[in-house]
Order: sequence, then structure tokens, then C-alpha cells
Amino acid sequence: MEVKIGKLSDFTEGKMQKVIVNGKDLLVVNIGGTIYSIDDLCTHEECSLADGFIRGEVVTCPCHLAQFNVKTGKKVANPATGVNIADESSFKVKVENNEVFVEV
Ligand code: FES
Repeated sequence: MEVKIGKLSDFTEGKMQKVIVNGKDLLVVNIGGTIYSIDDLCTHEECSLADGFIRGEVVTCPCHLAQFNVKTGKKVANPATGVNIADESSFKVKVENNEVFVEV
């Protein structure tokens, strides 16, 4: 199902935002003018990735520093605790007439 999450101008380049869609927390990021979305809850212990920091296309979880690629949801680094964690789900994003839709 496609859900409108805002206007393109609502998503500043390089900034992370948490958007709640149908009760699900999504992380939404504008990288180079393209919008990407992955699950906001870290697959380790469910900290909000939106509270972490982003460098390029890699988001770092604020809790134990796991890293994920925001374009694909793929894990880049396990938490500092050393456990092996899963990739994040990623969601298809579409921009039409300057409005942003995410498929959840
Ligand atoms: S909750 Fe994200 S690394 Fe632990």
C-alpha cells in the first residue's frame, strides 16, 4: 500500500527523519535529492535510528553503534557488543508531483 508521507521539500538533504506510517516507524532520508526509507527500529534492540547519525549513506545506531546502509537496509556493521544482527527492511519510495509516497 502506498502512503503519502509529505512533500519533497519536507525532507532536507542529509537529514534523517522518523515518520510513522500505519503504526510502523520508518526512517526517511534524502540523499542527493533521492528519498530512501528503511525501518527506523534497530534490529539489535530497537533503538530509533533517526536518533543516530548519518554519514554518506550509512546510518549509525545511537545505542551500540550498529550501522546500516539507508539505501538498501543492509547491515554494514554489527553492534559494538559483537552480536550478529539482521538487515533492516527497506521500503520503496516514489516521488510524484513533489509529493513523497512510501510503499509499506
Ligand atoms: S540497539 Fe542499535 S546497536 Fe544496539
